Amino acid sequence: MPAANKDTEGGWRSFVWNSEKKEFLGRTGSSWFKIFIFYVVFYGCLAGIFIGTIQAMLLTLSDYKPTYQDRVAPPGLSHTPRSVKGEIFFSMNDPKSYEKIVTAMDELLKKYNADAQEDMVKYEDCGTDPADYRNRGELDGEGGLRKACRYQRDWLGSCSGADGHYGFKEGKPCIIVKLNRIVNFRPKPPKTNTTLPLEAQANFQSFVLPMYCTNKREEDKNKISGIEYFGFKGGFPLQYYPYYGKLLHPQYLQPLVAVKFNNLTFDEDLRVECKVFGDNIDYSEKDRYQGRFEFKFNVKSS
Ligand SMILES: *[C@@H]1O[C@H](CO)[C@@H](O)[C@H](O)[C@H]1NC(C)=O
Ligand SMILES: *[C@@H]1O[C@H](CO)[C@@H](O)[C@H](O)[C@H]1NC(C)=O
Repeated sequence: MPAANKDTEGGWRSFVWNSEKKEFLGRTGSSWFKIFIFYVVFYGCLAGIFIGTIQAMLLTLSDYKPTYQDRVAPPGLSHTPRSVKGEIFFSMNDPKSYEKIVTAMDELLKKYNADAQEDMVKYEDCGTDPADYRNRGELDGEGGLRKACRYQRDWLGSCSGADGHYGFKEGKPCIIVKLNRIVNFRPKPPKTNTTLPLEAQANFQSFVLPMYCTNKREEDKNKISGIEYFGFKGGFPLQYYPYYGKLLHPQYLQPLVAVKFNNLTFDEDLRVECKVFGDNIDYSEKDRYQGRFEFKFNVKSS
C-alpha cells in the first residue's frame, strides 16, 4: 500500500519539523529553551550539593591525622626481593638469575646510606640500644617537620650489600624485611619470652619486636638452617615509632631486618615462613602478609 506508506512518512516528517506551527519534535523553540534552562539549573544544583557535601566533609578531616583509624588492620610485613609467586629461585653460578634482585635491594637501601642521612635538621641519632617510643609531639602541623631516626646501612652486616650480591653468589641469600608504615601506630613488643615459639625466645629483648623465620613444612626442617638476623638487634626497635605520616615525617626511615640463610639445601623447593611478634600484631588466614609472610627458595647449585 504505497499511499498509506506515504501518509505515515509525511506524519513523521511533520512531527520532526512542523513548518506550520514552527514546532520541532512537537515543541516550539521557546518551549525547548525553557526545558534547557530548567535542566541547566537542575543539574547545576545537584552538582552544587555534591561538591558542597564533599567540601564540608574534607573540612572536618585533618591533613595530618587519620580520622578513622579504629578499624585499621595490624601492619603487614613486606620483604625485598618480592616476587609475584613468592618464589626466590636463582642459580648461584648465574649472576643474571639474581641481577634483578640485587637491583631491587640496592634501590631499597639507597635511602639508608650514611651520606643520605647527614642533614642535621632532618635526621637525628636515636641510639644503638633499643629504647621506648620517641614522641615528637601531637599529630598536627604546629610542630612542623619531625626528625627521623638515622638507620645505618652497616647494621645489616653481611646483608648490607657491601659484597655486591647480598649473599646470592654464595647461595647464602639475604632478604630484607620491613613492617609497613601506619601513621601513629605503636607496635607493642611481646611482654615475656614465653609468648614466643621456643626457637624464637633467644631473639627476645625489651623495646624490640623480634623477627623469626623458619621452615614452613615439617619435611624441610633439616634443610634450612644457619639463619642470621641483622639490623637493629635483629628486630624492630620502638624508638623508630610512631611514624607521623608523609607530610610531617617525609624523611622517615623504617627500621629494617635482614635475614640471611646460611645453610640452605640446594636444588630443592624449600618453604620458609617469617613472622614478627608483638602484642598488637595479628595474623590472619585471609591476609598472607599480615604480621608474616612466606615464600619458596630454590637455590640451583649448577
Ligand atoms: C626467658 O625469660 C626468663 C626470665 O626472664 C629467662 O630466665 C630465660 O632464660 C629466658 N629464656 C630464653 C630462651 O632466653
Ligand atoms: C648445614 O645443614 C646440614 C643439614 O642439611 C648439616 O648437616 C650441616 O652441619 C649444616 N652446616 C652448618 C655449617 O651448619
